[in-house]
Amino acid sequence: MSSLSVENLSVEVNGKRILDEVNLAIPKGEVHVLFGPNASGKTSLLMTILGFPNYKVVSGEIWFNGVSITNMSTDERVRLGIGVAFQNPPAIRGVKLADILHNFLKSEPEAKKKEIELCETLNFTKDFLSRDLNLCFSGGEVKRSELLQILAQKPSFVMLDEPDSGVDIENLGVIGKVINDFLKERSGLLITHLGYILRYVKADKAHVLIEGKVACSGKPIKILDQILKEGYGWCEKCLKIEKKC
Ligand SMILES: Nc1ncnc2c1ncn2[C@@H]1O[C@H](COP(=O)(O)OP(=O)(O)O)[C@@H](O)[C@H]1O
Ligand SMILES: [Mg+2]
Repeated sequence: MSSLSVENLSVEVNGKRILDEVNLAIPKGEVHVLFGPNASGKTSLLMTILGFPNYKVVSGEIWFNGVSITNMSTDERVRLGIGVAFQNPPAIRGVKLADILHNFLKSEPEAKKKEIELCETLNFTKDFLSRDLNLCFSGGEVKRSELLQILAQKPSFVMLDEPDSGVDIENLGVIGKVINDFLKERSGLLITHLGYILRYVKADKAHVLIEGKVACSGKPIKILDQILKEGYGWCEKCLKIEKKC
């Protein structure tokens, strides 16, 4: 288990402010949800936590297990135990899904057997491993492939960026169960736009990001109910009067 906190974080991309004084604390063993309309900065927050160079931290600090990671490289952050399932991972011709799994599992006993078990858990046949990464994968296959890599990597803190978007109902059940089991022993941040995944995943707290700012924080189900009833306009009101839900 790991803890992550973000303090007064402001971020720019190409000179444009996309995160504004964001504060977030995810204690050890907790799973938090990040809601927000399109383009509110959810993915940018993940990219910044991972240390992608395009996302320029103009102020604030990111802490992981009590250590400032604000100026670390992405490699160092990942080695400390941060994992991510991307919203839109790139297709990489020539890199097989199997290559990535081998790399994560190489030091494990019975790595081959483990690989097959992980494929079965995520509803993949073994031949899928010889496909080029994300090349011509369906929307649901992309999401399951991201999770397959997470299960092999076993990060202590995992960020999942819209794992439920574009996934059909059968696969939503598969993905939901896998994520919930994985998070039982871990901490994480789960981005979901419409909250489908919350039918399966137990989360401790939710935050709503509006125009790069945390508009409110509270119980995931309560916040989701309000968003589904009133839309994100409800959260914009919160932001204006700085109300905490
Ligand atoms: N690398 C980038 N280059 C230019 N603009 C970006 C980049 N990353 C994010 N943005 C912009 O920042 C805003 C927030 O994007 P994003 O974090 O992807 O939102 P969300 O995940 O909430 O939909 C959007 O207006 C987006 O176009
Ligand atoms: Mg996004």
